[in-house]
Amino acid sequence: MAGQIFGPAAMALESLDPSQVAFINALPKAELHAHLNGSIPISELQQMAHEYSRTSDKGPSDVVQNGITKIQNGVVLDEIYDFFDLFPAIYAVTSNPASLRRATRAVLAQFLDGDNPQCSYLELRSTPRETVQMSKFDYVQTVLDEVERYPKSRAALIVSLDRRMSVDVARECVQIASRLKAEGRRVVGVDLCGDPKAGDMSLFAECFSQAKQAGLGVTLHVAETLDNSAEETLQLLSYSPDRLGHATFLNDEAKSLVRENKSCIEICLSSNLFCKTVTKLEDHHIRYYLQHDHPIAVCTDDTLPFRNSLVGEYALLLASQPLGLGLSEAEVRCIAEMGMAARFGV
Ligand code: IMP
Ligand code: ZN
Repeated sequence: MAGQIFGPAAMALESLDPSQVAFINALPKAELHAHLNGSIPISELQQMAHEYSRTSDKGPSDVVQNGITKIQNGVVLDEIYDFFDLFPAIYAVTSNPASLRRATRAVLAQFLDGDNPQCSYLELRSTPRETVQMSKFDYVQTVLDEVERYPKSRAALIVSLDRRMSVDVARECVQIASRLKAEGRRVVGVDLCGDPKAGDMSLFAECFSQAKQAGLGVTLHVAETLDNSAEETLQLLSYSPDRLGHATFLNDEAKSLVRENKSCIEICLSSNLFCKTVTKLEDHHIRYYLQHDHPIAVCTDDTLPFRNSLVGEYALLLASQPLGLGLSEAEVRCIAEMGMAARFGV
């Protein structure tokens, strides 16, 4: 169900022979790091933007249309911080329960529907967003209603905390996640995401401890850029996260902590290449984790701007160098199994 893909993942996939593609398709795969508003299929988003322009009385709709055209034409980022400028246009068209429901349904279908679904299991993540038409609680419930249309073995929700949030708002998001989980709803974890330079992460300690007490898994975007200090990384690791997003720039102390705790690293190859936090595949930190037999999960991050797919990310593992990492089918199978083993839900 994934749309057309472009860039390194597409080139790697094109280089595979049909039996290798069939091998990837048949592998049970878990997508554990996908941001809802970063994963809306472009065709759906365009239709939503069109309808938004027809019906909106708020502000110039060309801001939205320009933003979406930019994404459609293929985003070129000078640095990771440019990435966050893409979201205001997307958020404008997913700002009420009906449009959020529609976007969520399309994202779930993209990953889970069809004869050859991208993955067997999806842990979708999203940041509760309050708008004029919905509260944060409405937001999470709306997304959950869609997630729960699939069986428990196929889909679950992670509630994201944005680094730009005040502690009060972050606390409120954890309370929403905990309450819904206690009511038997399918919230399985919390995440920390957003602009890697923003916020004071020492203030978030209580949020992750409360999430853990509520039985939620904790995953943190950590050391995503060179601007993330070693102190901040150690602080985030002290919250005992179950999984880590990216973990690109860890110093030796952080690496040994991560290996000791066996925290699964969510690896997003195309995302790191597009955001230029990794220059080329052969320098990617995935190699370090593979060499040390450390648990990883290969994921897409944001299929909308990066125009990738989970099958494409697996193609990057299997394709011969320099298009891919040149791993064997046995090694790729083992990576898929590690992803399945790191699920918060099920
Ligand atoms: P949402 O949480 O469903 O609204 O998905 C989009 C949001 O995810 C963005 O506004 C960012 O805060 C966050 N996000 C997406 N990709 C990344 C990433 O690679 N690093 C940090 N945050 C990210
Ligand atoms: Zn991410």
